[in-house]
Amino acid sequence: MGEVKINGAKNAAVAILPATLLIDGVCTIENLPHISDVMISCEILEKLGAKITWNNKNSVTIDTRNIHTTKAPIDLTSKFRASYYIIGSMLGRKKEIEVGMPGGCQLGARPIDQHVKGFEMLGAEVTVGNGTIFATADKLVGNSIYMDIVSVGATINIMLAATLAEGTTTIDNAAKEPHIVDVANFLNTMGADIRGAGTDVIKINGVKKLKGNATYSVVPDQIEAGTFMLAAVATRGDLLIKNCITKHLDSITAKIIEVGGIVEDYGDSLRVCCKKRPTKANIKTLPHPGFPTDLQPQMGVVLSLANGTSIINESIWESRFQYTQELNKMGAKITAQGKTAIFEGVEKLSGAPVYSTDLRAGAALIIAGAAAEGTTEIYNLEHIDRGYENIEERFRNIGAQIERVKE
Ligand code: EPZ
Repeated sequence: MGEVKINGAKNAAVAILPATLLIDGVCTIENLPHISDVMISCEILEKLGAKITWNNKNSVTIDTRNIHTTKAPIDLTSKFRASYYIIGSMLGRKKEIEVGMPGGCQLGARPIDQHVKGFEMLGAEVTVGNGTIFATADKLVGNSIYMDIVSVGATINIMLAATLAEGTTTIDNAAKEPHIVDVANFLNTMGADIRGAGTDVIKINGVKKLKGNATYSVVPDQIEAGTFMLAAVATRGDLLIKNCITKHLDSITAKIIEVGGIVEDYGDSLRVCCKKRPTKANIKTLPHPGFPTDLQPQMGVVLSLANGTSIINESIWESRFQYTQELNKMGAKITAQGKTAIFEGVEKLSGAPVYSTDLRAGAALIIAGAAAEGTTEIYNLEHIDRGYENIEERFRNIGAQIERVKE
């Protein structure tokens, strides 16, 4: 049986790092994944005036007492999606911020109207244009905000902006992902007063100041754990996945059992094993606690190898089936149209040159390559490095024959 240890959650880390801007003091963050999105987040903080000291590759001490500019470097903020958290944090701390339009994976339209609506309801003026977002406020005052769409990013961003606002903010129809709870726990550890994170109503009682002077450890990555769980199923392996919160993985566990895999739950670790060909299953991606869109491509690899025909309905992103064309190059039989894909299961995949089109597509191709006969060459690794630390070594340690040929 192979063993793998799960790292801190990327999507929590990229929100907690900008959240340190709300602190007028020093804090330490541990269990940070060593990935490029985290490195860029730290670079942006430094450019704004934060002092960053690395204690080791997964722990950083951040001193945010001397934030001296409200212009975030456009070249860096445009590199990834989560740079939009600088807006909520800096509105809270300095009442003004200019950032580049956020970049990130090309998954179809990625509007930010719910973020803007939230900031405006707290009293900010927001101008979007010429590739930048400019937000300013005389003061921020708590309000009742109903989210028209369940959005992870907007929920966190409003929470950030409301932390130091006057009075109470209520976010209704909030997202409930584990990283929302983690950001709220981080802010509360630093002195905020946030209640209800993880339910669909979050209440933020504004406080005058976050004093920091504390250490916080990032929650284990639910998506990374799910990626390894699905790798075990696709390769018909046996894997012990350590350092995860198994409750966060209920929707994936349920689908693995449905396709014929075995999952043993030990609370903070899971054993996943699958000795026979998986059977078909239908999936619809949904906000937490539904099946996560960020594991849809990895599940797609399992279903491409399943006995029978499966259907995936992607309800969050418009174009998250680009990976299916790459799997078809490896012998899969997938027809994708709009937000639906039909997987006619095949008995085996065969190695081929394939292109990673986004982060989770890249993870799916690694799983497909490990399960396939022959050699698979995966290009565009920069997408994968944005979200998985040391991916090839960790797959090698659990039995995959994988090497990085070129940086
Ligand atoms: C977060 O993106 C994650 N990124 C994504 O992970 C993840 O796929 C997504 O949540 C859904 O779980 C980070 O946390 C950095 P959303 P986010 O706002 O916050 C629509 C990965 O692979 N929407 O919850 O940008 C939007 O178009 C990445 O790790 C609006 O219409 O997603 C989408 O259909 C990829 N208006 C839906 O809501 C808005 O203002 C959910 O988006 C905001 C969103």
